[in-house]
Amino acid sequence: MGDKAQFGSKLGLIAATVGSAVGLGNVWRFPAEAQANGGAAFLIIYIACVFILGVPVMVSEFALGRAGRSDAIGSFKNIGAAKPWWAVGALAICASYMILCFYMVVAGWTIEYLWASITGSLYDLAAGTSLESSFTQKMQSMIQGSTDPLISTYFVILINIGVLVVGVQKGIERLSNTLMPVLFLVLIIMCCVSLSLPGAAEGVKDFLSPDFSKINSSVVLNALGQAFFSLSLGMGILITYSSYFPNSTKLTKTALTVSLLDLLVAVMMGLVIFPAIASFNLKDASLEGTTLVFVTLPEVFQMMPWTRLWSVLFFLLLTVAAVTSTISIAEVSVAFVSDRFKISRIKACLVTMLPIFVFSTICSMSLSGDSFLKIGGVSVFDFLDNVATNILLPVVSIGVCVYMGWFAPKGIMNDEISNYGSVSSHPAPAIILIIRYVAPLLIALVLISYFMN
Ligand code: PFF
Repeated sequence: MGDKAQFGSKLGLIAATVGSAVGLGNVWRFPAEAQANGGAAFLIIYIACVFILGVPVMVSEFALGRAGRSDAIGSFKNIGAAKPWWAVGALAICASYMILCFYMVVAGWTIEYLWASITGSLYDLAAGTSLESSFTQKMQSMIQGSTDPLISTYFVILINIGVLVVGVQKGIERLSNTLMPVLFLVLIIMCCVSLSLPGAAEGVKDFLSPDFSKINSSVVLNALGQAFFSLSLGMGILITYSSYFPNSTKLTKTALTVSLLDLLVAVMMGLVIFPAIASFNLKDASLEGTTLVFVTLPEVFQMMPWTRLWSVLFFLLLTVAAVTSTISIAEVSVAFVSDRFKISRIKACLVTMLPIFVFSTICSMSLSGDSFLKIGGVSVFDFLDNVATNILLPVVSIGVCVYMGWFAPKGIMNDEISNYGSVSSHPAPAIILIIRYVAPLLIALVLISYFMN
């Protein structure tokens, strides 16, 4: 255990964990969900899901990883989990690998748009067509194109390999320490610009005015699903990252800080998007994730002075959010391969990442209209997304809660949360209560509701 990697500083481990949590879930899922599901009413429920359920589940993943000091499977085994339990870790690794295959492609799109914003080619529009249809055509040719999306996907994979090979402290931590401040700075600038546009207040109202009549059980379950995805729960990421936490890290405080920052980014993103859309009268435009980001927002930038500056800043933000998330999810498999097979990081990175070139190519090609790469009638891309995010993530989260709440060695949650007695006031009893009873039940409802729809 002596040579086990560790994060070097408190700030570094928070930056890395926030880097994982802040991803496309914050940028293109949260604002649209909030607006469609009752604005501030949704936000209140979302905040409750994050702090009442998300934080306790995050703390249990942290406790498992730091006590086990290994990858998602090894951590279960190291704390003495009986036979079937480590399968929960195996499912987390499967889910993370499946997500990696298609998220690399999406991260590639963000880089492609960043590059097209820098060169200005994104705004070379054909005369005589509306802005919306020009950008829609551009998006379609990007998503369904055969070479460009692959080149940028491969570029993201190479960045991942470059960072992961260098290691936890010098690779992941150093990158997060540099990029997270950039992300927050860009977000603050964009928020100020958007909020100062004429008619911005109307957009803030659209985003946040509470409409409690829209709240029903499916909205609550949506909020819960979104909170879990956004906090990177059930993917094995937090188990793996916490195996690099020093013994002095306060788990509850870390979980609260990460969740608060993740929430802050989601809300600030809404405050960037809605005022801008309202100001340019694009209220009827689609808020569906890809269209919002690749069509509606470029339309907004096109109508603003300094188009390219805002476009570069926004796609830089998106790229940072996406790439730091891919690195965290790739680390799950890299850690597993190097711990399990006792091989060097470099070899583990190559074994893990080289197949991703092939799998992400398949995912990307499955999106072209006439592709035969389909499973059960849907593209391989959508299939992996559905199975991993809607089925495997809730199953893993339930597994972690039930194991840590009921079956883990007695006192382990208490010991990890209190840092073996050195933290005097801590909420371990409340956290244990939630992961024993409330969280598994509610997550099971999210899973059931997915199958009923
Ligand atoms: N919390 C991340 C997000 O909101 O996008 C979830 C995630 C997705 C993490 C994909 C990592 C990843 F590769």
